[in-house]
Amino acid sequence: MRARPLLAALVALASGAAACTSEDARGPEPAAPLSAGGGLAAAAAGAASAVAAAPAGDPAQGQRLVAEYQCNRCHDGTGQAPAPRDAHCVQCHQDIAAGRFQAPAAAMKRWNENLVQLRDVPSLAAAGDRLRRDWIRGFLLSPHDLRPRLHATMPRLAIGPEQASDIAAYLTRDRGERPREPLENASAARGRELYEAKGCGTCHAFTGAAGLTAVAPVKAMEKETRAAVALAPDLRHARDRMEPADLVAWVLDPGAIKPGTPMPQVPMSPAEARDIAAFLVTAQLSPRAPASAPARLPPLSRRVTYDEVDRRVFRGTCRHCHSEPDYALGDGGPGNTGGFGFKPRGLNLATYEGIAAGYVDDQGERRSVFSRGPDGVPRLVAALLARQAEEADRADPAVRGMPLGLPALGPEEIQLVESWIAQGRPQ
Ligand code: HEC
Ligand code: HEC
Ligand code: HEC
Ligand code: HEC
Repeated sequence: MRARPLLAALVALASGAAACTSEDARGPEPAAPLSAGGGLAAAAAGAASAVAAAPAGDPAQGQRLVAEYQCNRCHDGTGQAPAPRDAHCVQCHQDIAAGRFQAPAAAMKRWNENLVQLRDVPSLAAAGDRLRRDWIRGFLLSPHDLRPRLHATMPRLAIGPEQASDIAAYLTRDRGERPREPLENASAARGRELYEAKGCGTCHAFTGAAGLTAVAPVKAMEKETRAAVALAPDLRHARDRMEPADLVAWVLDPGAIKPGTPMPQVPMSPAEARDIAAFLVTAQLSPRAPASAPARLPPLSRRVTYDEVDRRVFRGTCRHCHSEPDYALGDGGPGNTGGFGFKPRGLNLATYEGIAAGYVDDQGERRSVFSRGPDGVPRLVAALLARQAEEADRADPAVRGMPLGLPALGPEEIQLVESWIAQGRPQ
């Protein structure tokens, strides 16, 4: 615990610095220059020029947008009170998992067996001390998977470039004042050794970094451990998300930056933290393998009924955002009565009649979810395929992937839906 005196100083500085929001302290400055690892310094410079081009954003407008988009239905730390539990996609699931929900024991048991999604979502607290403003902006415009062990991803919301700038400005409005730790004399080679010796890989993936010894992830038994493993970001993205100086401070004492964070403090000296940060920022990364969406399967020749499609597709995932307003104490869900900044689409996937009634388009007209696009694919199927494409980093600007922000359906489920539609949608 050699780091104590400095940590105490950091905490004192951070807590006394609420008023400090000076522009020069948080960008849009380029990342602190890094002497080690030329190739990646060049990559960082590329990111920096994108930063310079991005508009600054209006935090007051951002605050209004965060309320409008209901970010507080999933995230803590938005600067706004959490959504009421009956609207909160994470709180209610956590309460059920912890047995804090008033419901018959049999129902609770059944629910708990089904409930895997949206039990852990990262808090956005202290975003200004961790995340680059421009990274947030880009992420809101085109979200991608950050955490390999978290099922849900940030949903693709209907956020435009200007709105993304405003929201990013709002989320990064506060920044604690800390000594800026230069990485100049840090040793990335030593950092690599420390990364392995200190067991960072028990929670973190660092994809693309060659030569790291594979570590079995810690058993996710305890509630705390589960959240720590699920919420640990793939460190591949850290160099884009964080400035090097912020990385050092974070690795040294995450709780001083973001109180209550699931990342534990790993004892180390400031020099060791600098070495590790240098490794994280300069480690050579192999390019991400181009992900491809799974191949589509031909329609089934056997008979497919609504019952089967409902059981295997609609009931499992879709219904929670597309249902009757009285279902599960909810409001019909964001895919029916509107939410997350989307207008009400009136699409109820909980009943045969609801599906047949279709959805409301941008002009306010009812449209069939079975109507075929120019490629002959029914709208419903197009939405499912679009989600597969999003997971392969090929978001379709014209079609939002479904289920929104949740793992794509597999080829067999999509085949089932397609076959059912092709057979005339038998009951
Ligand atoms: C349906 C739930 C949901 C809603 C609504 C939602 N998010 Fe997220 N968001 C997530 C999840 C899940 C992640 C983690 C994604 C990952 O790790 O791959 C995430 C990640 C993020 C991150 C990255 C944070 C980090 O530490 O990695 C930011 C920033 C963010 N969301 C901002 C927002 C904002 C701003 C809004 C409102 C405009 C919003 N989110 C609405 C679920 C949601
Ligand atoms: C009032 C409590 C409550 C709220 C609020 C709530 N859920 Fe759920 N959710 C449940 C219950 C209960 C289940 C399990 C239902 C079952 O097994 O049939 C569930 C299951 C799910 C599932 C399917 C199970 C899984 O893990 O794949 C998804 C997806 C889901 N919810 C998403 C959401 C989203 C998105 C929101 C916010 C728009 C939300 N929920 C809000 C109670 C809630
Ligand atoms: C017990 C699990 C666990 C261990 C061990 C752990 N971390 Fe973390 N780490 C996390 C979690 C969870 C987060 C996200 C915290 C949050 O957003 O509140 C995180 C966040 C980070 C971040 C921020 C990355 C980003 O993109 O936002 C860095 C950098 C990091 N950890 C580095 C390390 C290093 C280096 C070590 C080893 C010295 C380490 N971690 C050990 C769980 C862990
Ligand atoms: C997390 C919530 C959520 C889940 C889960 C979800 N949806 Fe949606 N869905 C939405 C929202 C919100 C909209 C409105 C989007 C918009 O206006 O662009 C929508 C719109 C749609 C639309 C129509 C609109 C269009 O423009 O194409 C279809 C079809 C659809 N969803 C199908 C599904 C299916 C099928 C599932 C299950 C596999 C599903 N959704 C699961 C939230 C969800």
